[in-house]
Amino acid sequence: MAPTFVVEHLDPELGPWSTLEYACIARESHARGARFLLSSVPAELKMPADLAATQGLEVEQRSVEEIFADRKDKVCLLDPSAKTELNPQDGETFDVFLFGGILGDDPPRDRTSELRKKGYVGRRLGPKQMTTDTAVRVTRMVVHEKVPLEEIPYLDYPELLINDHERTEMPFRYVKDADGKPIMPDGMVDLIKNDADKSLDDLM
Ligand SMILES: C[S@@+](CC[C@H](N)C(=O)[O-])C[C@H]1O[C@@H](n2cnc3c(N)ncnc32)[C@H](O)[C@@H]1O
Repeated sequence: MAPTFVVEHLDPELGPWSTLEYACIARESHARGARFLLSSVPAELKMPADLAATQGLEVEQRSVEEIFADRKDKVCLLDPSAKTELNPQDGETFDVFLFGGILGDDPPRDRTSELRKKGYVGRRLGPKQMTTDTAVRVTRMVVHEKVPLEEIPYLDYPELLINDHERTEMPFRYVKDADGKPIMPDGMVDLIKNDADKSLDDLM
């Protein structure tokens, strides 16, 4: 059975970065027959139109605890502080894989602890912080495609060229595509470049 992926939205807002990540998770999950729930979305939060229209996205105002109250033991939290690494066999043990809907931060602030304290079994995806869409992609490759965690091709801390003079290092681990590039949501490179240009303008 294809797994269900749940991202519990933990930020008060849903900005452009999260929008691109969530749309990417929805498209990839849909293409592979997996369910994707974005949970704990406040009623008053206005979903960006592009995201709301993305095929494969199920938006839930309820929290993961409410939705899966009757099968908590089938939910696995992907937790950077877990003691055990995710392995292909976990695809048989768990039906639901839970992620923190949190923007990556450097250094990480361990906001996944908000989900850990709810008592779910935790699994780690190696020692490096991933973006949420990367964490979902890697989990799908391990539990659905049965690729062991250590055999996935990664790219750590890639540098993006902002313009002829500026580069920025992304402080995350990504999956590497066939061309050796980090897999990122559509539109993400442009968003990062625009943000970098804006902060340069702010300095001037
Ligand atoms: C961008 S990360 C946020 C990590 C973060 N800085 C924090 O405060 O916990 C978003 C989510 O991806 C998942 N994740 C990212 N890297 C992971 C790793 N190495 N192992 C397990 N889960 C990971 C977790 O579910 C996490 O809540």
